[in-house]
Amino acid sequence: MSKQGEAVCVTGGSGCIGSWLVRLLLERGYTVHATVQNLKDEAETKHLEAMPGAASRLRLFCMELLDYDSVLAGVRGCAGVFHLASPCIVDRVLDPEKELLDPAIKGTTNVLTAAKEVGVRRVVVTSSISAITPSPSWPADRVKAEDCWTDLDYCKQNGLWYPVSKTLAEKTTWDFAKKHGLDVVVVNPGTVMGPVIPPRLNASMLMLQRLLQGCTDTYQDFFMGSVHFKDVALAHLLVYENESAKGRHLCVEAISHYGDFVAKVAELYPEYNLPRLPKDTQPGLLRTKNGAKKLMDLGLEFIPMEQIIKDSVESLKSKGFIS
Ligand SMILES: NC(=O)c1ccc[n+]([C@@H]2O[C@H](COP(=O)([O-])OP(=O)(O)OC[C@H]3O[C@@H](n4cnc5c(N)ncnc54)[C@H](OP(=O)(O)O)[C@@H]3O)[C@@H](O)[C@H]2O)c1
Repeated sequence: MSKQGEAVCVTGGSGCIGSWLVRLLLERGYTVHATVQNLKDEAETKHLEAMPGAASRLRLFCMELLDYDSVLAGVRGCAGVFHLASPCIVDRVLDPEKELLDPAIKGTTNVLTAAKEVGVRRVVVTSSISAITPSPSWPADRVKAEDCWTDLDYCKQNGLWYPVSKTLAEKTTWDFAKKHGLDVVVVNPGTVMGPVIPPRLNASMLMLQRLLQGCTDTYQDFFMGSVHFKDVALAHLLVYENESAKGRHLCVEAISHYGDFVAKVAELYPEYNLPRLPKDTQPGLLRTKNGAKKLMDLGLEFIPMEQIIKDSVESLKSKGFIS
């Protein structure tokens, strides 16, 4: 059911996925409360203010996830909340608690508490495939889908703090929803790429930039498939507007290995000096075109990997991130 005309809050509206979602919501007639960390930083605000519909229907809020009052201010007056804000760092961190875990977990609790206090009807939480994988004891003959959860012990032993942050944030979400009777739906995107709206790259576009510069990392514990920014934004809208949408929603154009992705980039852009990676870069990950069946059943037709790559590389080129 369409909820056009409603006010909704997008936490992390300044980010790469957030900007796509804000644009889509404005296009669909929503009034949007977008949160940013620093209202004085044009890199966080200018691209949002320039969007069609922004002059009359976009309000920017300064929000820090650990400051409850700032979260409440963004959410107040909204019928729905899209909670995207969370540090997205796949490189090693020095202080996991401060850099990743606290903002992800306590931040999510703050957003859900504010949503409950305000009487929001539905909250869409952006989790990740990082709450599904790495899961090394998952049977190799079984597709990793919404019923699979990241192995927290494996992550902690290997210093993989981003998957820990996303997994604990999502578990916190489901515990809160159950305990407080809050209507919550979750989207679990894969590696998100495509045309970049803000002036800064997110972690997944940085992966592609580094690959084109020759990086040989196979992202063994991080990759499960790619997805276009546009489809991730649409997935958020679909699960918000469809009351029948329940639970987690894996959001990838296909379940694939990073080796498949790199081989396709090399085929499309032979002029770059790409590393030769093995085909199977994600041990035990079963490939399938229909990994995101729940979203497909809601009507999402995923943009294929080839187009994701073309849109991403052309965006990196046009914005001067690669030559
Ligand atoms: N990129 C992917 O491939 C991918 C895949 C699956 C899930 N996700 C999830 O999607 C969401 C958005 O990620 P993205 O790729 O769009 O990354 P991004 O461009 O780095 O956006 C992250 C957003 O979170 C905000 N944020 C971070 N820490 C905050 C804090 N302490 N208080 C308030 N806001 C804070 C940032 O605000 P500022 O701009 O003001 O710094 C930014 O708007 C995250 O939850 C991420 O885990 C991403």
